[in-house]
Amino acid sequence: MDKKLSTEPYKGTRDFYPEDMAVERYIFDTWAKVAESFGFERYDASILEPSELYRSKGAENEELVNEQTYTFVDRGEREVTLRPEMTPTVARMVAGKRRELSFPVRWYSIPNLFRYERPQRGRLREHWQLNCDMFGVDDVASDIEMIALGYRILLAFGASPKMFEIRVNDRTWLKLQLSDYGLSEEQMKAMLTLIDKRDKIDDFDEEAEKIAGKKVSLDFTTPNPEHRLMQVIEGLKALGIENVVISPSTVRGFSYYTGTIFEFFDTASENNRSLLGGGRYDNLTALFGGDPVSGVGFGMGDVTMRDFLETHSLLTKDVKTTAPTLAILPLDATHNLAAEVLAEEFRSAGVRTAVDLSDRKVGKKLSAASDAGVAYVIVLGEDEAASRSYALKNLGTGDETKGSAEELAKHIAR
Ligand code: HAM
Repeated sequence: MDKKLSTEPYKGTRDFYPEDMAVERYIFDTWAKVAESFGFERYDASILEPSELYRSKGAENEELVNEQTYTFVDRGEREVTLRPEMTPTVARMVAGKRRELSFPVRWYSIPNLFRYERPQRGRLREHWQLNCDMFGVDDVASDIEMIALGYRILLAFGASPKMFEIRVNDRTWLKLQLSDYGLSEEQMKAMLTLIDKRDKIDDFDEEAEKIAGKKVSLDFTTPNPEHRLMQVIEGLKALGIENVVISPSTVRGFSYYTGTIFEFFDTASENNRSLLGGGRYDNLTALFGGDPVSGVGFGMGDVTMRDFLETHSLLTKDVKTTAPTLAILPLDATHNLAAEVLAEEFRSAGVRTAVDLSDRKVGKKLSAASDAGVAYVIVLGEDEAASRSYALKNLGTGDETKGSAEELAKHIAR
């Protein structure tokens, strides 16, 4: 006999069964609602991009480009990549309409992204990521607004500020210090990568010396009060956001960041993951020619978001159900079509309605509806079909209400 196909999805990706999809939708809807409450407009693009978008100078992120992309050659000999992040795409789109757009532009999107990673908790090969970006503003208020948006999103899920920590840093401050060492661009990149790993390695000083060819001593304490980073922290305070820490070793993996960088971390030790990461990038649109347009934004992933909600018990039962409001239960199959007709009446009155087309006994249909979280049922037999008068049963209270479809739809809407 032939070997049977596996029912597992491709490594590092997920199937979304309805109960998973209900959570996913709740996450997406909450993201969208809060982003729109800040005046962000939704955009989207194809998951396919020409590979050169990630290879061009400035957009380049060594690890991501060389080891983590899904890249293939299409039938027309073009090199194509499944997008590993959204930032180069949105920069391309903004640059393409630079002349028509009225800045500041505030845009958001919820793309699926692909990275060839070693799958583990919080890290998969396909994830969805809320991307919020603002273009055309240099003022520090835009950095502050982006961080505040991330904060408001987490609070909208019912989180309290002590459940997460906002780590901020500034690339300019690091680069300013590093500029004393006369490093080449290559050395600078290697140094930033090393700083990114600072918390995980013991021999930081030795490694830094290897890269720079001389002893390196960096100040990882608080920068002076005039520095932009301090303005970010003060600004957040003015908005009532206090769970902010300066994190000198946060450098973020992408070389396009030029200023403020930030990450939101879950404070629960079992879920010590970055929920959100972002920063300011002032040169990315310059890749496409013309004057550069400054950008600041972040990405927030669905995998870590769901882990966060589960870790802090923020997923309530209501979130998980997509059950219809009303189920119509034909007494037997001869009433199926009449049930479909009746269901149409309720749906056109705005009631989410399903018909139980199984050949179970009506008692079994009733318990199935109740298990699925349906709020109301109508049993449909000979008498009901003839009189067009129905008994609507509320499964929560057990109450019964009699009437026409129109009357009952009104009753449900009350
Ligand atoms: P990132 O730090 O690579 O930034 O990703 C942002 C967030 O996406 C992470 O904090 C995490 O929640 C989630 N994430 C990233 N990779 C994975 C993965 N393999 N599996 C599950 N979740 C993941 C960026 O992508 C930047 N382009 C964000 C940005 C937008 N910067 C400015 N604008």
